[in-house]
Amino acid sequence: MNICIVTPAPARSRKGNRVTALRWAAILRELGHRVVIEQEYKGQRCDVLVALHARRSFPSVERFRRQHPGLPLILALTGTDLYNDIRSSDVARQSLELASRLIVLQPLGIAELPAHLRDRARVIYQSAKRPPGANSPAKNLFEVCVLAHLRPEKDPFRAAMAARLLAPSSRIRVAHLGAALTEGMGERARAETASNPRYRWLGNLPRWRALQILTRCRLLVLTSKLEGGANVISEAIAASVPILSSRIPGSIGILGPDYPGYFPVGDTRALASLLARAETDVTFYNTLRERCERLNPLVNPVRERRSWGKLLRELSAEKRRKARAPGPRQRFTLIGTEADIQLADFAREVEAGLRASPKRLPCRYFYDREGSLLFEAICALPEYYLPRAEREILEARAAEIVSHLPRDATLVELGSGSAAKTRVLIEAFLEREGALRYVPVDISRAMLEESSMRLVKEYPALEITAIAGDYHDGLRQLKVEADRPKLILWLGSNVGNLERREAASFIRYVRDTMSPWDRLLVGIDLRKDGAVLQKAYDDSRGITARFNRNILAHINRDLGGHFDLEAFHHRAIYNEQIGRIEMYLVSGRRQLIPIDRLRLEVPFVAGETIHTENSYKYSFAEIEALASAAGLCIESQWLDTGRRFSLNLLAPADP
Ligand code: AVI
Repeated sequence: MNICIVTPAPARSRKGNRVTALRWAAILRELGHRVVIEQEYKGQRCDVLVALHARRSFPSVERFRRQHPGLPLILALTGTDLYNDIRSSDVARQSLELASRLIVLQPLGIAELPAHLRDRARVIYQSAKRPPGANSPAKNLFEVCVLAHLRPEKDPFRAAMAARLLAPSSRIRVAHLGAALTEGMGERARAETASNPRYRWLGNLPRWRALQILTRCRLLVLTSKLEGGANVISEAIAASVPILSSRIPGSIGILGPDYPGYFPVGDTRALASLLARAETDVTFYNTLRERCERLNPLVNPVRERRSWGKLLRELSAEKRRKARAPGPRQRFTLIGTEADIQLADFAREVEAGLRASPKRLPCRYFYDREGSLLFEAICALPEYYLPRAEREILEARAAEIVSHLPRDATLVELGSGSAAKTRVLIEAFLEREGALRYVPVDISRAMLEESSMRLVKEYPALEITAIAGDYHDGLRQLKVEADRPKLILWLGSNVGNLERREAASFIRYVRDTMSPWDRLLVGIDLRKDGAVLQKAYDDSRGITARFNRNILAHINRDLGGHFDLEAFHHRAIYNEQIGRIEMYLVSGRRQLIPIDRLRLEVPFVAGETIHTENSYKYSFAEIEALASAAGLCIESQWLDTGRRFSLNLLAPADP
């Protein structure tokens, strides 16, 4: 197999992740695979991706998953990601979700993972080779070793501080090896070396030299505040050097819960007394030594190689099983922008819109879960003719539309929503080809998940890669799909919610991702009698009014707003000259609305409006102009029988 290992640690750095990546590359090559190590996955061909660090390798994980939804992706949780990031960072959590297998470096790591992902986890203990040469400790000294880069999580000066507390009779000396990751840390290490006769910082020595020094020491001291499973522990075990370690899960998972050499994280006194005991109490020292010797099989390179062999066999078998009998879960991958990132955008745009004069809010924030459901309800209204007109055209023309595309085309849908109408096209593709890859992009992750799960259940030959995100993410995905033939859907007159100029430039971006054989199918509502439009956007049951007001409820829910929904009225007017429906919320009284998360109070006078949406309608000439401004031509255009709505199949104008 071709295996790509990505590690955020740069080439030639001596960081733990690079050391691990190099060791794994050697093991995988021994197992007969071709391996490359990169800092980032850039789309190169490979059969398996192994990514180290859930947060920092997220761009690689996401990119690989988008491009190869069916290939194995192994994510190794190596330290800060396991014990910090997967609780605090959405991208780290998302990496977990996208991985086929999760590697932890000791068994206690599994307990840190979300419960629903634990069955994907495998433990691979890090191995180490016994360094050449016998242990020959200096006779008159009791030398101990700290192998840790100088950065805060390593608590790198704890051993130096403990050494200062030792009795004058002690022969303990601390040799500290590791790179100073900031100038301040380096200065502190130099100052400590100058003022503490028991401590010497030796800097960032090559690995072979570090191991040589470790071998002559009586103890390894590991002071870290957190570790996924420190490689130096394996190295010390392999070198038969006993260990004193901070009591952290990363060490307990390797050394065992009842190992006698633990001290509480950051406890200088406890470390000092352990050091003194190890120096003076031979029985204690020998116990530490025996306990570490018993752990030798755990760090044997043969064991690590076997673990990798087993993992890869397991993944290959799974791939074969999937190919034979794909189940709905395996054929559906959801990739999404973080809820928190969206929340930050939401907060910023709400603040800007409510500070502006006149006030406005972007219509895409209608669509939280409640808003998406209300929009579904709008689509079922007799007055809101758009979806029915569009469905009528799709039902009549699906096979004809499909015939414009080469075989094996992927169906990409921008703003897929419930994908209700898309089924018509999915069925037409399945009828022609027996299988289909569908890539829906939608702002509502919940909606995507629901609709995709339903689709894969209903259509066993469908494979879905769902992208939760906005049009920007949609464009990104189109670039990823650039080398496959595709039909891009932009239905529902969603184009109408952009300003005319924005619509042209967005379609131009889409066009730039298209090959000559790709097609863009756009649903566009037509200009018509104002009374029909007025009713469509101000229905008799008041659903559109609730939909409009839901944007305030969304602000209340997610940003701690205090809007009284009853105090705002829905207004929809057709501006015939511009050819657009304009939707507003109108304040029924003078009021001051606090929004807690924005630390903002928004004043309204009675009758003041918030402009929430424009919905542009197009003449045939305007559709032509839109297509040509974007570098496309209209290959086919279909209307419903009532001539209210158009479906336009656009092709690159100058392929
Ligand atoms: C989603 N979009 C095309 C709808 C439209 O017709 O502009 C949103 C909508 N607003 C009110 N009713 C429906």
